Amino acid sequence: MKAIAAIISIALAASATHADDVSGLIKDGAKPEKLAGGFKFTEGPAVDPDGNIFFTDIPNNRIHKWDIATKKLSTFLEDSGGANGLYFSKEGDLYVCQGENRKVLSLYADDGGEKEPLADQYDGKPFNKPNDLWIHPEGGIYFTDPNYGRKTLSQDGEHLYFITPFHDSVYRVGDDFKRPNGVLGTPDGKTLYVADPGEQKTYSYTVESPDEGTLGNKKLFADVGSDGMTLDNRGNLYLTWGTVQVFNPTGKKIGDIKFPEKPSNICFGGKDGKTLYVTARTGFYSLEMQVAGAGFKDNSRPPEGDTAEITINCVKEKLIYDTKEFTVRQGQKVILTFKNTDHPQHNLFVVKPGSADKVAQMALLLGADGPAKKYRPDTDLILWGTDLLDHGGMEVLEFTAPAPGDYPYVCTFPGHAILMRGVMHVVAE
Ligand code: CU
Repeated sequence: MKAIAAIISIALAASATHADDVSGLIKDGAKPEKLAGGFKFTEGPAVDPDGNIFFTDIPNNRIHKWDIATKKLSTFLEDSGGANGLYFSKEGDLYVCQGENRKVLSLYADDGGEKEPLADQYDGKPFNKPNDLWIHPEGGIYFTDPNYGRKTLSQDGEHLYFITPFHDSVYRVGDDFKRPNGVLGTPDGKTLYVADPGEQKTYSYTVESPDEGTLGNKKLFADVGSDGMTLDNRGNLYLTWGTVQVFNPTGKKIGDIKFPEKPSNICFGGKDGKTLYVTARTGFYSLEMQVAGAGFKDNSRPPEGDTAEITINCVKEKLIYDTKEFTVRQGQKVILTFKNTDHPQHNLFVVKPGSADKVAQMALLLGADGPAKKYRPDTDLILWGTDLLDHGGMEVLEFTAPAPGDYPYVCTFPGHAILMRGVMHVVAE
């Protein structure tokens, strides 16, 4: 009898370890940490472009901000209109689902003022209770509209909607849910996940049209529902369903991460994107991870392989590049794609170490000749550079990474160089 008992206990220990494959995702020795408590029901964590976390306390009608530098919590907004799901745009505006106000809108992230109403009705009727949202990389917005806590529906069911990239139309893009909740897509904009806790299922879709939000190829991804969810940069999906349940990109369950309270929603944040933040009932928690969240780039190390493919976009209306630094290896082939996703004209010149200000000044001194010369002064301080691109323009620079050093890149359109610059770090082979 004793021998059998011993064998059983060994088998249990082994299976417990096996089920705990999430250990490869979590930083060694890290445990969930309670950052703040005393809330009524926390929801909707979202990461701003600096890595700070905003989240909602729905019954208390507040949005809070967790500052990653000071590790302090503040109240960002009172009377939040029943704010639930949040998401930041690339431009740094806070997009909000207001359940009580039955609308979706964007706020300025510095003072919480309303920036733009986005959707407050469909087919002439108000929404039920907008719950969670995700912004597609091309600007369209998916949001779910379940009817928690209300007896009557405003709409004819609980559906999924899409606000077009120019915010001029709202389409219903999914109408076969019982009670949709969490919604999230991959950084490439090709796959969308929608959780239906009403049916206790989570589905994946192919985004067919980023302009109209149409979806195809519906597949059952996981046999559990979810409130909010998040993705890491290996494509694993983290659902909140009793615990945090982690699934690999094919829908196979990797394991559970347990928190002291039942999680409602989850996101990655922090400076390097390697901290998991979880809203759970009365508390707000973090967990240090080995993996970073989807979309976080590790700009401190060169990409693997012989070729480094780098894309730099402009941040709309901010006169900055969206990538302030990247790293390549000496001798590596660099394919640098520059896209002007902003409205003013911009260029990008990679220049010799320490010469960004000098090149910008030389461009300024072109004076009246500047526009004709595309603000490109005649100097060998410029190593590689694009044309002056209009809105929507794109150019690819191809070169071999030079000797180790810090090579600035800068836009020389007059006045832009103060902010519109970054650094290419070249490290030794
Ligand atoms: Cu510029």
